[in-house]
Amino acid sequence: MNEVLENIRRRRSVRRFLPEPLPQEVLTAVVEAGRQAPCGGNNRTTHFMVIQDQEVLEELRRLAVQEFAKMEVAEDTYRSLKNAILSSKKGTYVYDYRAPVLVVVANRAGYRNAMADCSCALENMMLAAFSLDVGSCWINQLHWLDDNPAVRAALESWGLGADETVCGALALGYPAEGAVPKAEGDRGGNPVTYV
Ligand SMILES: Cc1cc2nc3c(=O)[nH]c(=O)nc-3n(C[C@H](O)[C@H](O)[C@H](O)COP(=O)(O)O)c2cc1C
Repeated sequence: MNEVLENIRRRRSVRRFLPEPLPQEVLTAVVEAGRQAPCGGNNRTTHFMVIQDQEVLEELRRLAVQEFAKMEVAEDTYRSLKNAILSSKKGTYVYDYRAPVLVVVANRAGYRNAMADCSCALENMMLAAFSLDVGSCWINQLHWLDDNPAVRAALESWGLGADETVCGALALGYPAEGAVPKAEGDRGGNPVTYV
């Protein structure tokens, strides 16, 4: 099997990381893979905020706990959001697994392909990371908090455009020992219909 197909088959989300930073050339290669992703109309408006400053990452963790703790859980609250709210109320929530790097991926608010373009970029970065032995995991909490004034103000102070919407984020770092899940065979789901 060729390398691309093999990487697609074997990539898995990593949720435990070593604290050490990624070498700049590795980080550049991963982000460039994101920048090379296809995008609607070749708009090229995806914005990659590469956060490595540990104080900034810590402040984002603090803000996430602070803001999720203010929310209430309803019967139909999405399972992961429910966990975010309840763990934040206990003060134990760490949404980004303390990865040493977080790439916040944003696009123009109101652009119809914002999420699609960002998703293509995120998948490219995940595959590039995997091919360089870097662990990655899509992190959705800053997307959920996109309209939250405190989180927005912080992100805008670090470079998010006032006209941009956060579509997702990617935790990156070298995996802790045993933190890379083994790729099983066919996991089921995702039906295919050939006609
Ligand atoms: C849109 C989207 C949002 C996700 N959000 C999160 C998240 O916030 N936290 C997390 O740990 N994983 C998140 N994931 C990762 C999924 O849980 C993971 O991809 C899925 O369980 C399949 O596992 P695999 O990536 O190891 O193949 C997200 C994935 C996608 C595509």
